[in-house]
Amino acid sequence: MPIPDIRTPLPGPNAQRLIARDKTAVSPSYTRAYPFVMARGEGAVVEDVDGNRFLDCAAGIAVNSTGHSHPAVVKAIVEQAGKFLHMSGTDFYYEDQVELAEQFGQLVPIDGPVRSFFSNSGAEANEAAIKMARYHSKRPYIIAFLGGFHGRTMGALAMTASKAVQRRGFAPLMPGVYHAPYANCYRCPLGLKPDSCAADCLNFLEDELLVQLVSPDEVAGVMVEPIQGEGGYVVPPPQFHERLRALTKQHGILLIADEVQSGMGRSGKMFAIEHFGVQPDIVSVAKGIASGMPLGITASRADVMDWPPGAHASTFGGNPVSCAAALATIKLLRETLVKNAAEVGGHLMEGLKALADRHPLIGDVRGRGLMIGIELVRDRQTKERAVEERNAVVQAVFRRGLLVLGAGRNALRLSPPLVLTKEQADTAVRILDEAIGEVEGK
Ligand SMILES: Cc1ncc(COP(=O)(O)O)c(C=O)c1O
Repeated sequence: MPIPDIRTPLPGPNAQRLIARDKTAVSPSYTRAYPFVMARGEGAVVEDVDGNRFLDCAAGIAVNSTGHSHPAVVKAIVEQAGKFLHMSGTDFYYEDQVELAEQFGQLVPIDGPVRSFFSNSGAEANEAAIKMARYHSKRPYIIAFLGGFHGRTMGALAMTASKAVQRRGFAPLMPGVYHAPYANCYRCPLGLKPDSCAADCLNFLEDELLVQLVSPDEVAGVMVEPIQGEGGYVVPPPQFHERLRALTKQHGILLIADEVQSGMGRSGKMFAIEHFGVQPDIVSVAKGIASGMPLGITASRADVMDWPPGAHASTFGGNPVSCAAALATIKLLRETLVKNAAEVGGHLMEGLKALADRHPLIGDVRGRGLMIGIELVRDRQTKERAVEERNAVVQAVFRRGLLVLGAGRNALRLSPPLVLTKEQADTAVRILDEAIGEVEGK
């Protein structure tokens, strides 16, 4: 069966009915870019309630790592659901939670013994990371980066500096957070080139923030996305993470890698920080870890996780069904899918870079593995952001049967399930080619 396969005008009649009900009953804070109403999915293909079939390069915001309803993950979920659904791992024991902590400890790029705290989402995983860093260091301050996204609960939101609308109306946020510039080399604020700059964008953090605003011996942790996600799939140069690691080590500051979006194979390595050869002290994950079941993990060096019983916990965190899904997910990622993300991601990247030769609207194509951003600009010289054009491309690919999301102010993001095939990658490139051409008025 050909994919995509669009049979009705979009949205179709069934989708229209559901969207009308949603309009009055569901929170208006959700940002639906286009009217896709899910009925079922398999691998990287999703079907809507009117029988239209789409190629999914959004994966529920970079979540369905093993594809939609992978049989091995579904089997693990069903088996566990038949035994017990919940027993709160904070008050009782069950094997899958221990097994997952052991496996995750082996997997995560942290030196020496590792312990894991379980929650339900990315924001919660980052809340745990801040609390852990403060508790262990007995220091109050946290540093994060402009363009970063760490979640929407009050602590995580205080570190998020992605879009003002996400913070507007919610102040006061958690105090004690400072932000420094991230290494966005396409828009280097210093006008430098990544191969010769020595991550000079960190000068602000080192020479101004830590000198004029906050004393380094009062900073508990620096939280950083190895590759920025919501900020526009921004890949910093290696020296950015190297220098940040050296600086945090020098001052006894904990380095917290937020791998919620970039982790679990998405970047073509199990964790994106592995591309930079740096070992953080704390790593948070969620999204892809359990293929779509809610689960967050905050892992740290064992000596950092020195909080006592009662200091932090979550009723649902590390739910047994989610743990079973995570164990099945990790098995699939290890066996084939991380490798597939690297290979098919490379192929997709080549195809997209070739598109840039034909479409002046494409300013930059960047990413690692199947975490790829395409930044659209009105003029390659001035790099004026093509915000409306980006939004129009998102709509135009949807009409043609491809699901993508925006990221940052003017980038498209491709974050497909890691089961994507080269043929599906070629389909995505073909549809983007047509859609960008349409928006360029060609
Ligand atoms: C890097 C990063 N951290 C944290 C979060 C928050 O995760 P959640 O929406 O599961 O709370 C996100 C979500 O997009 C993210 O991309």
